[in-house]
Amino acid sequence: MAGLFTPLTIKGHTLSNRIVLPPMANNMATERGELTEAHIEHYVRRAQAGVGMVIVEHTYIRPEGRVNARQLGLYDDFLIPGLRRLAEAVRACDTIVGIQITHGGGKATSDLIGKQPTSASNVLVPGAAETARAATEAEIAEITEAFAAAAGRAKAAGFDFVEIHGAHGYLLSQWLSPLTNQRTDEYGGDLNGRLRLPLGVVHAVREAVGEDYVLLYRLGASDFMPGGLTQEEGEQAAIALAEAGVDLLDISGGLCGAEIPDWDEVSQGYFVPLAAGVRAAVDVPVVVAGGITEPEFADRVIREQEVDLVAIGRAMLSDPDWAAEARDALLGR
Ligand SMILES: Cc1cc2nc3c(=O)[nH]c(=O)nc-3n(C[C@H](O)[C@H](O)[C@H](O)COP(=O)(O)O)c2cc1C
Repeated sequence: MAGLFTPLTIKGHTLSNRIVLPPMANNMATERGELTEAHIEHYVRRAQAGVGMVIVEHTYIRPEGRVNARQLGLYDDFLIPGLRRLAEAVRACDTIVGIQITHGGGKATSDLIGKQPTSASNVLVPGAAETARAATEAEIAEITEAFAAAAGRAKAAGFDFVEIHGAHGYLLSQWLSPLTNQRTDEYGGDLNGRLRLPLGVVHAVREAVGEDYVLLYRLGASDFMPGGLTQEEGEQAAIALAEAGVDLLDISGGLCGAEIPDWDEVSQGYFVPLAAGVRAAVDVPVVVAGGITEPEFADRVIREQEVDLVAIGRAMLSDPDWAAEARDALLGR
């Protein structure tokens, strides 16, 4: 039975273990979204402890898709050389390294992007500062192309994979949720309509990076909100994304964000039941993040086949040696 330290091969890339550093923005970029030395130090420090897979934080695919002035960018070719240095430095730590691409949609602010943010509909996205405007069909095409171009840059920069951010109430999560997608055209309505843009992005990204490249999708598989995306719909969405060519599903929350509202802080792995439901429905590996701190817990949810990989976020922020300590705890010195 596979455990936390059992290798896993995905499209020819062998991860030495099932520990994932999930994407975590640290706002250390320049105002143009360029990489700084602090990024390299931050990621290398954690990868050196023996992490199987590193997912670099969310990078914006277009200037109007950013949500923070110091967010890392992937919206233009001039950003590639800096990111290549990061990819090389992290890979030298014997890990598989990829990068997340995102658009904030209605979570952007006009202060930051200089215009009203767009979303699926004219809505105030939960957690957003101002009301967004519904994107036009031309803008939908631009967004799709921008995701594909950013993925092409990720590959050109030497990352082993790219992850599309479709969780936490950002643009693709806004399109998937019935609370924020109230469109009456082919991009709204039932789950198939609300999935049209996310699937269009997956197809465009796949076209840009080719069949052999590893593609992850971070899916907010439930909004945990009345009237929002349900777990059942999340599982259907996961099936459709896997069929569209996603190689690994990274399961998290939708409009609720990275935590379940009113979550009991003493229980670990609050998204494990959600991810286990997805895993049972799809043929691709599944990773989950959410409140996991103990190696024994991480090992158990893999052994019990609830998930294939476990992401350790805040615990690895505060303890960069988490992976090495987990190895000692589970396998002995
Ligand atoms: C400081 C910080 C920044 C984050 N940035 C991102 C991000 O860029 N992209 C993303 O998908 N999730 C982001 N998250 C969510 C984490 O990837 C993860 O899902 C969440 O922290 C729950 O896992 P944990 O309890 O192990 O930390 C962030 C979380 C934190 C704490």
